[in-house]
Amino acid sequence: MLEKVKQLLAEVNSFVAKDAEELEQFRIKFLGKKGLMNDLFADFKNVPNDQKKDFGQSLNELKQTIQQKLEEGKNSFAKSSKTTSDMDLSMPVAEDAIGSRHPLSLVKNEIVEIFNRIGFTLSEGPEIEDDWHNFTALNLAEEHPARDMQDTYIIQTNPDILLRTHTSSVQVRYMENNTPPIRTLSPGRVYRNEAISARAHCIFHQVEGLYIDENVSFADLKQVLLYFAKEMFGDKTEIRLRPSYFPFTEPSAEVDVSCNICSGKGCNVCKYTGYLEILGCGMVDPNVLKNCNIDPEKYSGFAFGMGIERIAMLKYQVNDLRLFFENDVRFLNQFKSSL
Ligand code: PHE
Repeated sequence: MLEKVKQLLAEVNSFVAKDAEELEQFRIKFLGKKGLMNDLFADFKNVPNDQKKDFGQSLNELKQTIQQKLEEGKNSFAKSSKTTSDMDLSMPVAEDAIGSRHPLSLVKNEIVEIFNRIGFTLSEGPEIEDDWHNFTALNLAEEHPARDMQDTYIIQTNPDILLRTHTSSVQVRYMENNTPPIRTLSPGRVYRNEAISARAHCIFHQVEGLYIDENVSFADLKQVLLYFAKEMFGDKTEIRLRPSYFPFTEPSAEVDVSCNICSGKGCNVCKYTGYLEILGCGMVDPNVLKNCNIDPEKYSGFAFGMGIERIAMLKYQVNDLRLFFENDVRFLNQFKSSL
């Protein structure tokens, strides 16, 4: 009997399974219900008492070796089986969760594209600016009361350095480094010390445009703005200009578009006026041109500036500006299908 166990042990030790099927046969042969191990354990009662100890030990050794072989075989086949027949090559690939563009980026891209079609190129500049580019060159001398229109974050140790309050500063830089004709668009983040509410934030985004050439007139400005409004809000959109004041433009105007929700009939979004304000604009003040080394006798131009948040709120009918900054995925997911 003991001899038989020793023989089986040798057989088990030299066994190497070629595949999972052979391993299973091996398992059935030894550990199956009618397998050899069950037979051997059944024989145990016939073994003379003085041999029981030896026999029992060999039997246990045999069983453990079989289990070890099975374990080893299982591991190696589990690894390789993924590359062979267990793999379903026809199974559709699980869709990865793709992100979505932020609504402010969508709107910015759309604005840039609309102006790109009529020849405006992109320009960018620093968010940390100096007083000259943000204010002085734009006809806002020190102590100019209009500086209060834009509550500014300044660096306390050096009041000459500030966080730009508008991207008009980029236009100054562009004029300093280029000669007319100039047609440029400056999108970017701007900062103003404002209390955060549904309609205002201390950080927001702007796109400003600048066009300078010989004989540029206010009529050109109106036409460009009408083109933009129709492209952005639909073909039936109308614009309305109201006289306004900006230190860097003269004359200046604020521009309203007909409400795209009620088509001008009056609703609670346009506060029953039929119009929504979207941007500020005007003819570049000759002083600004002079400050940037452009001859105001020869050249004239127009500029305009708009808040991207405001345009996005109107386009997507979002009534709280703070939603753009909270990055709640439930909000952001709604823009998945856009662009
Ligand atoms: N810079 C102005 C602002 O931020 C907007 C503007 C730009 C107005 C160009 C007129 C011309 O409020």
